[in-house]
Order: sequence, then structure tokens, then C-alpha cells
Amino acid sequence: MLRWTLLSLLSCLFFGLNCNAFPIIEPKVLIITMFDFEANVWFGIPEFDLLAQNITVPGFSPLYPNVHCTANSDVCLLTTGQAEINAASTISSLLFSRSFNLTSTYFLVAGIAGVNPKVATIGAVTFARYAVQVALQYEVDAREMPAGFATGYFPQGSTGPGQLPGWWDGTEVFEVNEDLRQLAFGYATTATLTDTDAAKTARAQYGSLTSFAAGAAAPTVVLCDTATSDVFWSGNLLGAAFENTTRVFTNGTGEYCTTQQEDNATLNALMRGALFHLVDFARIIVMRSASDFDRPPPGQDTVANLVGAEPGFNPSLLNLHLAGVKVVQGIMNEWRTKFALGVRPTNYIGDVFGSLGGEPDFGPGSIFGGKGARA
Ligand SMILES: *[C@@H]1O[C@H](CO)[C@@H](O)[C@H](O)[C@H]1NC(C)=O
Ligand SMILES: *[C@@H]1O[C@H](CO)[C@@H](O)[C@H](O)[C@H]1NC(C)=O
Ligand SMILES: *[C@@H]1O[C@H](CO)[C@@H](O)[C@H](O)[C@H]1NC(C)=O
Ligand SMILES: *[C@@H]1O[C@H](CO)[C@@H](O)[C@H](O)[C@H]1NC(C)=O
Ligand SMILES: *[C@@H]1O[C@H](CO)[C@@H](O)[C@H](O)[C@H]1NC(C)=O
Repeated sequence: MLRWTLLSLLSCLFFGLNCNAFPIIEPKVLIITMFDFEANVWFGIPEFDLLAQNITVPGFSPLYPNVHCTANSDVCLLTTGQAEINAASTISSLLFSRSFNLTSTYFLVAGIAGVNPKVATIGAVTFARYAVQVALQYEVDAREMPAGFATGYFPQGSTGPGQLPGWWDGTEVFEVNEDLRQLAFGYATTATLTDTDAAKTARAQYGSLTSFAAGAAAPTVVLCDTATSDVFWSGNLLGAAFENTTRVFTNGTGEYCTTQQEDNATLNALMRGALFHLVDFARIIVMRSASDFDRPPPGQDTVANLVGAEPGFNPSLLNLHLAGVKVVQGIMNEWRTKFALGVRPTNYIGDVFGSLGGEPDFGPGSIFGGKGARA
């Protein structure tokens, strides 16, 4: 080891080669968490020890400076810090870290989220195909909006809600590998999810409205999309506005069930890395468990829903590990037979612009004529 290190140091100094004095880590699975509670559910677990190696990465959040890995480096975990800027900065730093080779790594985004009671409930574990950046829009305070506007949010370059954006920044929508999502969903459904009496009581309050039947039902593993916004919102009106935005941005195919503050930023950084073959964009799984409803139960206060008790918090955290570890084990167990060479996507993957090649099934169409940004 010492001799190897000295040799590589020497070759670094004299020949400018391999300037890593230590072996490069090639994780099979990298778990992406956003804050300490999400990370902590993966420490001290029976399945593997993620605190066997701590690798400091320049550019990470000062609160979460390390990637944590098992002794054999097969499974690693990082924490981005919350909201879009933290997520994009941390993932970009990871891509350019000389400590890692991520070309065959599977990325499992594993965080908690708000949930739309029309689609799922607190404690549920969801897997997204689309991530939509719903707040990347114009906004006027609703008290100043013209008659005829149902919301103060409307797309950039448009003249009112419901219209297509006049221009796109490219990060409005990302689509991930549907075939991989189905595999991850299959593994996760073998988990027994945890639930609490407090969560059951909170959920039951949604039962009086038929459209909220999913919100009142027991938590399960669900396939549904995710909405990204730095603003942590609550309420029926903003909920309806962003349901509409999701529909417009995805040409009617997306329906958000979870709300979070990072995923489009994480996906954008990973997509930029994929353009230079630092990562494989077909190896991303977006898993979000639901900790709180994005709107109050019928007849109740919108602000109280935001600032009150969060009965779904603990079960949603525990379910990240319970369902997520099945996905990690599924990938590890079938590494040779199914995952090493990658799971070929049968759907479009990537951003609004078609940067990775192919024709997006949403938005205005590839700006690269289907060939991708680096053709
Ligand atoms: C890694 O960091 C954790 C604290 O975050 C610590 O408990 C653990 O001992 C460290 N592991 C090593 C190998 O130093
Ligand atoms: C990264 O790992 C892949 C697959 O193991 C390998 O083909 C590639 O050469 C490695 N890249 C670097 C820069 O070491
Ligand atoms: C965010 O990413 C999701 C995919 O994970 C995609 O469906 C969504 O359109 C993206 N939204 C924005 C605004 O980038
Ligand atoms: C959502 O879209 C529907 C159908 O276009 C419209 O009736 C409704 O007012 C919109 N709601 C909001 C809050 O934008
Ligand atoms: C999405 O819908 C818009 C407006 O109807 C249309 O211009 C665009 O071509 C559609 N995109 C795809 C990929 O079908």
C-alpha cells in the first residue's frame, strides 16, 4: 500500500499522471440524501456500515463535508444540504472529485417530501419518472392578479396561467429511466412499510373528500412524479396551480404526487456530468417518501398545515431505509446479471432540450435535432 502510494505520488509529480495518492472509489450505489435526518436512517443499520470510510470532497456543504462508504466501497451516501442551490453545488462537486469514478454508479435519490392527497399519502414511498421545476415561472402576488387568473404563477414568456412557456431554461422537466424505475419499484414493494397511529389519524381527515381517497388510504409504494421548488408551499390553490404547471410542462403526461426542493437541481448536475461521460444518466432512481400533505384536510387551515405537527415525519424517514435498502440489495445481488452493463431505457431520458440525444416526449422538441449537445 505504502509502496503503491509512493509510486503513484511520484508518477503524479513527475509525469502528471493519476494525481490521486489513494485508490479511486467506484461505488455500485450512491444514496443521495438532503439533510441529516435522511442520512441518519442509513447509519447503524444491520445491512451495511456506511461509516467505514469518510471521504471529504471539496465543494460539499460545510454541514455535510463527506461521502460515507462501506469498507468495500460498494455503497456510499452523501448529503447535499437542502434546496436547489445546495443540491446542484454538491452534486457538481462530486462529479469533479478526483476521489471517485462514477461511470457505472447507480444514484438513488432518497429523501422525504410533501404529498398530494389526490395521488398518495404520508408514509408512502414513491418513484418518479418526471421531475418538474414548477416554480421556475413568473409570479405576481395573487392579490394583484387580473380577473381571469386562477393563480399568480404563469410560465416565463407567457401572458397567463395554462399557457406554454415562451422560453425554456432546460431544467423545467427531467425524465429518468422508466425501465430502471420499474425494477426499483419491484424491489421496494417487497418491503414492509412502517406506520404510526398519529399518521393514521392525520390521514383519516382526508377521507371526507372522494378526490382525496388516496390520501386517506394506507401507505404503499407508488409510481408518480415529483415537483421541485425552493419555496415550500401549502394549500389547495397553489397545489392546483402546480398540478396545472406539471401538466403543461410535461405535455399532459406528468402528474406530481410529491413536492421537494432539490431533485431537478440534482438531475441537472448529473445530466451535465453525463454529457462528458462522468456518469450514466440511465442509472438514476428518484425515490421520495411522503412526510406531510401539500394541502390541508377539508375545512382546515392552510398555514396550520405548514407549521403544525408533522405526523408523517418519522414513518417517512424509516420507510426511506426500509424500501430503499431493498433497492440497494436488489442492485447488488443482481449486479452481474442485470446492472453492471446498465438497464437500457425504452423511454426518452434527459432534459427539455434533448441534450443527451433523442426526442423529449414533452416540451417544444430537441434543440439539437435529436442528436444531443455533443454530437
Ligand atoms: C466516519 O464519521 C463518523 C461520524 O460522522 C464516525 O462515527 C466514524 O467513526 C467515521 N469513520 C471513520 C472510519 O473514521
Ligand atoms: C472508471 O471506471 C470504468 C468502469 O470500471 C473504467 O472503464 C474507466 O476507465 C474508469 N475511468 C477512470 C478515469 O479511471
Ligand atoms: C425536474 O425533474 C423532473 C424529473 O425528475 C422532471 O420531470 C421535471 O420536468 C423537472 N422540472 C424542471 C422544472 O426541471
Ligand atoms: C388549472 O387548470 C384548470 C383547467 O385549465 C383551470 O380550470 C383551473 O382554474 C386551473 N387552476 C389553477 C389554480 O391554476
Ligand atoms: C407539446 O405540446 C406543445 C403544445 O401543444 C407542442 O408544441 C409540442 O410539440 C409538444 N411536444 C411534444 C414532444 O409532443
